[in-house]
Amino acid sequence: MTTQKNERQKYVEVNNLKKHFKVGRNAYLRAVDDVSFYIYKGETFGLVGESGCGKSTTGRTIIRLYDATAGEVLIDGVNVHAKKSRAELKDLNKKVQMIFQDPYASLNPRMTVKDIIAEGIDVHNIAKSKKERDERVYHLLETVGLNREHANRYPHEFSGGQRQRIGIARALAVDPEFIICDEPISALDVSIQAQVVNLLEKLQKERGLTYLFIAHDLSMVKHISDRVGVMYLGKMTEVAESDELYDNPLHPYTQALLSAIPVPDPDYERTRERIILEGDVPSPVNPPSGCRFRTRCPFATEVCAQVTPRWTEQRKDHWVACHLYDDEYKGNFNR
Ligand SMILES: Nc1ncnc2c1ncn2[C@@H]1O[C@H](COP(=O)(O)OP(=O)(O)OP(=O)(O)O)[C@@H](O)[C@H]1O
Ligand SMILES: [Mg+2]
Repeated sequence: MTTQKNERQKYVEVNNLKKHFKVGRNAYLRAVDDVSFYIYKGETFGLVGESGCGKSTTGRTIIRLYDATAGEVLIDGVNVHAKKSRAELKDLNKKVQMIFQDPYASLNPRMTVKDIIAEGIDVHNIAKSKKERDERVYHLLETVGLNREHANRYPHEFSGGQRQRIGIARALAVDPEFIICDEPISALDVSIQAQVVNLLEKLQKERGLTYLFIAHDLSMVKHISDRVGVMYLGKMTEVAESDELYDNPLHPYTQALLSAIPVPDPDYERTRERIILEGDVPSPVNPPSGCRFRTRCPFATEVCAQVTPRWTEQRKDHWVACHLYDDEYKGNFNR
């Protein structure tokens, strides 16, 4: 029997997740505000959006680096925020790892590469002896394209790309199933970026890893993501398979982001229509009523200020939050 797409296992399920930060006596910054999506086992889910839209907070709340304000996260069927005991949390920390944007800030400068990589091995008692610990570290170094001679050196002796490889080795040390890559290549030279992406892709193939890959812009995640989610001001605006999102974007915000990506064909580039977004992103402490994007949306009408758009599946695996596609409200627009 062939496996149908709709039988794929949802490895991560995020349901109505909220993360609000208290920023004043009665003020809350709504960094993540009622976000729902899922990630299939073994896929790469790209999460994009402008600076401050809540990507990192979403990633951190998913793996409980932050407690959620509301909502739930299931990882491999287990409710992350309901876990209480130390043993349960330890088990979660072994399944899920994170790779950070800044390979300079995320590695302790006073620790040797060996000790950095072995941290998880020690915490989870993975090695039976010092020799086994060393062997594991050497093997991990080789896995990420470094070598055993690097083990006793310190982070400052390495380039940005090498440091990111060390960060990847550290994440792999506990044999995780799910890795959140929070802008892992943004701080690297363009010439190095592809190498790190290739490494991440190779590791995914070999180990069946599931990735949440956070990035600033759509052009970066297009090739590496199976599906992509677009965030704006604490909300998920659209999620679809990569090709579907690029070929058939529904949300005006996605359309605007895509129209900003330069096209290689100069004739087309000169004549094509660009959607220029007016104004700035509003504050997440006082976001606009109704649809968050309405203050910059070329199609916005009264209903957009009054009603928060529903999160609906327009086609299989293609989700959008916009009144333009809602049977109840689409009559309000003359397009
Ligand atoms: N610990 C915190 N306390 C208060 N506010 C925070 C905290 N962490 C993040 N924020 C705010 O939450 C919002 C979302 O931040 P977040 O870092 O998740 O955005 P991002 O999409 O990852 O941005 P970038 O692309 O710049 O990394 C921002 O307004 C940010 O200032
Ligand atoms: Mg971030």
